[in-house]
Amino acid sequence: MKKVIFLNGSPKQERSVTHYYIEELKKLLGEQVECEEIYVAKVIKQKDLDSTYKKLTQADQLVIGCSLYVDTLYAGLLSFLEEFETYLEVYPNLREPKTRVYALCNNGFLQGEQNKYALRNLRFFTEKIGYSWQFGLGLGAGEMMYATRDQMPMEFVVKRQIGNALRVLSRAILNEEETKQQDLLVSPKIPIWMFNQMGNQFWKDRAKKGKVSVKMIRQRIY
Ligand SMILES: Cc1cc2nc3c(=O)[nH]c(=O)nc-3n(C[C@H](O)[C@H](O)[C@H](O)COP(=O)(O)O)c2cc1C
Repeated sequence: MKKVIFLNGSPKQERSVTHYYIEELKKLLGEQVECEEIYVAKVIKQKDLDSTYKKLTQADQLVIGCSLYVDTLYAGLLSFLEEFETYLEVYPNLREPKTRVYALCNNGFLQGEQNKYALRNLRFFTEKIGYSWQFGLGLGAGEMMYATRDQMPMEFVVKRQIGNALRVLSRAILNEEETKQQDLLVSPKIPIWMFNQMGNQFWKDRAKKGKVSVKMIRQRIY
């Protein structure tokens, strides 16, 4: 059975939007492939790098899950990937150029398009280590998708486009042949004004809970 490793590159680990998407993907993949999710932040904390890198070299396919932090990838994930590159230089026999690599990137703002540079970086990284880049998904409104996970299934009209993108990725993983295609940059179907209003209300409620006034939120610290 083919082995797929999901690298969860969010510092939030099990509580991340990335984990939510990985779980949704696993549902689509069913029992046809063996799946393992690895939390990069945990590996770094436990200093378990070498055995994890060895595991990565044994996978048939890799899905790099990540999220945008100040328009780029979580620093822990970046250093983890850089070290993997070094690992492959030290152990060139373990390099597996046929390993297919995909990326599953999400961000907080509505527009999934914002992930395009992060996806490009992951493509460059994949090409640099000599693995086989396939394509990436850039999915917007991550926190909204996560917050509504129990109320709204992926088939719900707001989420349907994201659900379709995950289906494209699952089909590519199950496909015997490679699927090299353009990245899919997807935003949920919700008007921007409604999304902003919901976001503003969320932060106001959070502030109230923490006894912070709206005026204090707007204060400039510089
Ligand atoms: C410090 C910080 C910086 C962030 N920077 C961005 C950003 O530049 N663009 C964006 O769209 N979202 C940004 N976000 C929102 C996250 O990308 C969003 O919450 C995402 O869904 C988190 O995914 P995860 O739970 O898988 O880590 C930021 C969040 C934090 C806490």
